[in-house]
Amino acid sequence: MKTSIKHWTFMLSTVLFCGSTPVLAQQTDFQNLLNMCKACHGDTGESQFSSIPNLKYQNADYLSAQLNAFKSGQRTDKTMTKVAALLSEQDMQNMAKYFSEGKGQ
Ligand code: HEC
Repeated sequence: MKTSIKHWTFMLSTVLFCGSTPVLAQQTDFQNLLNMCKACHGDTGESQFSSIPNLKYQNADYLSAQLNAFKSGQRTDKTMTKVAALLSEQDMQNMAKYFSEGKGQ
């Protein structure tokens, strides 16, 4: 249990750090955001943490709908609400596609 608390602290600071990083280029920004998702949801979207849902092979429309819901405030979570606020419509669609295809390693 001790290790998982350390992980959470690390992940939360990653979120806060990414939120304050200035945007350099569109592509780099997307990769940084995606790396942040992977820190919690796993490289391929297969989560290593029982408290974090799997995204791998999940329906792309479902994933982008959830991200939109977090951003609009229709669905709330102390982490995902902050994360979704950083995403553009295009980011959400690209991330939904990425995880629905089970890419990465
Ligand atoms: C600090 C950890 C953390 C980070 C970073 C994070 N997530 Fe999440 N995510 C969660 C947790 C925890 C939940 C479950 C929220 C809930 O219970 O409603 C979740 C839920 C979700 C869901 C809804 C899944 C479902 O089955 O309904 C999606 C989609 C999602 N995250 C996508 C992303 C994307 C895309 C990123 C990167 C931009 C990201 N997350 C970054 C922790 C994180």
